[in-house]
Amino acid sequence: MHSFRHFSEAGLQIRLAEPADASILAELGRRTFLETFYEVVPQHAMLPYLAASFQKEKITAEIEEKKATYFLANLKVTPIGYAKIRDDRQPEVLKDNMAVELERIYVLQNYIGKGMGRQLYQFVENFSKNNDYAALWLSVWQNNTVALFFYEKLGFKPKQDYTFYVSGIPYQNLILSKDLTPTVKFYKNESKF
Ligand SMILES: CC(C)(COP(=O)(O)OP(=O)(O)OC[C@H]1O[C@@H](n2cnc3c(N)ncnc32)[C@H](O)[C@@H]1OP(=O)(O)O)[C@@H](O)C(=O)NCCC(=O)NCCS
Repeated sequence: MHSFRHFSEAGLQIRLAEPADASILAELGRRTFLETFYEVVPQHAMLPYLAASFQKEKITAEIEEKKATYFLANLKVTPIGYAKIRDDRQPEVLKDNMAVELERIYVLQNYIGKGMGRQLYQFVENFSKNNDYAALWLSVWQNNTVALFFYEKLGFKPKQDYTFYVSGIPYQNLILSKDLTPTVKFYKNESKF
């Protein structure tokens, strides 16, 4: 897989995460999920979900075994967001497609609405195109209006309903997807026309 770094004018640095980043990713994962859903998911369901989903060891293994790719966004030296993609499952509706799942994209609450999410998403989209995926898909809680606006703005289209479980509690989600136009690659000695 290609790897590259991106520095924006605002000083946001986005890069592929390494196994050594696992504890930062676990902490960011717990904090951002809690900040986003503390009013939605009851505590008795939230705590086991956080404990099971954001373990340092699990994240280390996912990165080492290439089961997932994590992206880390740092503002100067402060980690403020992360994203995660994986390609080991696909919804029925996309079965013919070489699609990759954007399983997580989260920015810390203090930094939301400042253009960070868009930059993080753009990095993930470029990475996915460069790795020859034909589409990105994701599932989002149907009442998460901020995320729904965000994904709509980025060009995602609704595909089907989906039930997501947090410690056994069902939440109605939507599956969205976006087709990725392949990056045009020009080679030496090859004419554009
Ligand atoms: C969803 C999330 C990653 C978006 O990141 P962000 O940094 O807040 O978004 P940005 O500031 O980059 O906004 C990008 C675009 O989304 C749209 N958008 C963002 N927040 C919006 C809001 N509250 N209402 C309407 N549109 C919004 C804007 O139109 C913006 O477009 P613009 O650049 O043309 O102005 C971030 O809000 C977040 O982490 N939310 C909590 C976690 C979450 O819900 N994650 C998704 C789970 S499926």
